[in-house]
Amino acid sequence: MLKDTGQSEGDAVEAQTLILLSGVGKIFSTEEVETHALSNIHLEIKEGEYVAVAGPSGCGKSTLLAILGLLDSPTAGSYVLNGNPVTKLSQAERARVRNREIGFVFQSFNLIGDLTVFENVELPLTYWNMKAAERKQKVLAALEKVGMAHRGKHLPSQLSGGQQQRVAVARAVVGQPLILLADEPTGNLDSANGETVMELLRDLHRGGTTVCMVTHDPRYALYADRTIHLFDGRIVEESAEEKSRSSWEVA
Ligand SMILES: Nc1ncnc2c1ncn2[C@@H]1O[C@H](COP(=O)(O)OP(=O)(O)OP(=O)(O)O)[C@@H](O)[C@H]1O
Ligand SMILES: [Mg+2]
Repeated sequence: MLKDTGQSEGDAVEAQTLILLSGVGKIFSTEEVETHALSNIHLEIKEGEYVAVAGPSGCGKSTLLAILGLLDSPTAGSYVLNGNPVTKLSQAERARVRNREIGFVFQSFNLIGDLTVFENVELPLTYWNMKAAERKQKVLAALEKVGMAHRGKHLPSQLSGGQQQRVAVARAVVGQPLILLADEPTGNLDSANGETVMELLRDLHRGGTTVCMVTHDPRYALYADRTIHLFDGRIVEESAEEKSRSSWEVA
């Protein structure tokens, strides 16, 4: 499902459009206040890309990511995910697409406290029609990828923040989603653990995973191919991260 496209230097491989937002808006209505969290967002993300979303607090970054991840619906515009219009899906269909196609990593890890590391990573697969042995193999491979295979029997509370986030990344990618969405994945980590998680996302991207990440930190945006800058719910600028390649080289 995840093809190695869009990453080759210099050659123009035509990558597929994975995400297409057209005129997307989001208004939150509460009592007498209406918040225009997003306005007229046009965004295309191609397979294999790594896109960063930046902007000041309250500008709509999490709202955008929640819409991309089908955790929330836009109040205007359309969203086509991998060729399928998803704006008008029922709740159940959205949940199914989300489970199959989207991997989410949050700032606060969001692991389930009374499940082991192994069980947390296995969770998304339990909704699939998959044999236990195959699930096990996928979970172990995902834990291996994030360097946490030796902690399968631990509970989240027995891990450091950085380790918990690595487990959360394993859970997000275990089902080989079309896209990995990360909302401030380093926000609760010190800089050393933050770097580790960023390197992990970079490695997944190099392996073909499409990534869209919200970050406040310009250093981390440099890992991405390009950055979308939001202000007051609008895209105000897009910049290509020319330096990302050199940051790979020093790593
Ligand atoms: N459920 C909600 N109900 C009402 N307003 C909301 C809701 N969620 C977000 N908002 C408003 O929408 C705007 C965008 O919020 P959002 O969480 O997307 O910002 P953000 O860019 O992620 O900020 P931060 O960097 O602080 O996480 C804010 O003004 C916020 O108050
Ligand atoms: Mg946010």
